Amino acid sequence: MENFVFYNPVKILFGKGQIANIAAEIPTDAKILITYGGGSIKANGVYDQVKSALTGRNVFEFGGIEPNPHLETLLQAVELVRQEGIDFLLAVGGGSVVDGTKFIAAAVPFVGDPWDILAKQAPVTAAVPFGAVLTLPATGSEMNTNSVVTKWETKEKLFFASPLVFPRFSVLDPETTFSLPPRQIGNGIVDAYTHVMEQYLTYSVNAPLQDRWAESILKTLIEEGPKTLANPTDYDARANLVWAATLALNGLIGAGVPQDWATHMIGHELTALHGLDHAQTLAIVLPSTLSIRRDRKWQKLLQYAERVWNIVDGSEEERVNEAIAKTRNFFESVGVRTRLSDYGVGLETIPLVVENLQKHGLANLGEHKDVDSQVVEQILTLSA
Ligand code: NZQ
Ligand code: ZN
Repeated sequence: MENFVFYNPVKILFGKGQIANIAAEIPTDAKILITYGGGSIKANGVYDQVKSALTGRNVFEFGGIEPNPHLETLLQAVELVRQEGIDFLLAVGGGSVVDGTKFIAAAVPFVGDPWDILAKQAPVTAAVPFGAVLTLPATGSEMNTNSVVTKWETKEKLFFASPLVFPRFSVLDPETTFSLPPRQIGNGIVDAYTHVMEQYLTYSVNAPLQDRWAESILKTLIEEGPKTLANPTDYDARANLVWAATLALNGLIGAGVPQDWATHMIGHELTALHGLDHAQTLAIVLPSTLSIRRDRKWQKLLQYAERVWNIVDGSEEERVNEAIAKTRNFFESVGVRTRLSDYGVGLETIPLVVENLQKHGLANLGEHKDVDSQVVEQILTLSA
């Protein structure tokens, strides 16, 4: 096992009715800004629950944070927070609202151009405290330090991470996710699945505990995902999906093991260029990455085949092929298509993706840092 530091202070309030308990988590004299997206929280009753929990508190609101949150929108919230002296943020929504709120939190005290936090990885030395009410299981943002923001003007999608943007608390009430359309449920399953794969499907460092945690999350997604798609108000299935998605990217399963993340970095460029949903890009890139990188990932692919998909018959090559095919079929089965052509994107995107990865200092990806321009080209060609 590799050396690691593990730290995760996020308090999780899990289950039905937990929004009612948020007031106790926020200082009584706080000036609170509720941040949200395009309005789903008003349609599904979550907004009303939050307002009612904060009755009597000093509350401001900022709506309109887009999926793949835009820098330009978030900077308006930064202005509001500075002007009003707001000192606590409450993100209510999916990963985009939580990520956007992390950026706002870090940008408010930042001296200089806040885009530098992402573009130049300028250090974050302070952040406004915030909590989250998560309505879409997918990103793990509710329990991690990551934030992904898109500069709309230049179509750049970049990320930053800082322990100062851990949420103080996150509410995970599965009932708040019942209103999700099938597309977003499927997206969440694929995103969480790929988060696990990026931390598991590399090479062995004799970390059987991390491996089995990863495999148990994958199996839970395979079993519970279809149930929750078939019956969106099945509380138990959704609760299992929500918790699986959180644990997929809260740092635990990745501590002490090599990590890949090539699929995510290539995927972010595809979203920036073509507006695809985050999970759609992952469904396109992951199966091809596993296929092209099979030599480097061989032993783990065999382990994955056996332990996650119960594939034990046939030659090693047959088992590896079948495991990759099962992965692709699973993504398709939850409604997320796996080919560039399914989204009307042609091979002419490849040089653009390669160029943008280089521009963003991401020319050498993967657990061995050897996914270079040529390999990215091979992966995307196989994804046609
Ligand atoms: O904006 P509203 O009206 O709220 O609608 C949203 C949005 O249209 C809707 N939605 C959310 N909860 C709902 C709901 N609709 C009905 N009922 C509900 N309960 O769903 C749509 C998508 O929301 P979004 O927040 O964009 O989705 P997701 O949670 O998948 O977040 C995606 C973003 O997270 C980033 C992605 O790159 C992308 O920008 N990621 C963040 C990560 C992190 N912080 O660790 C890691 C991930 O790999 C990912 O990169
Ligand atoms: Zn992701």
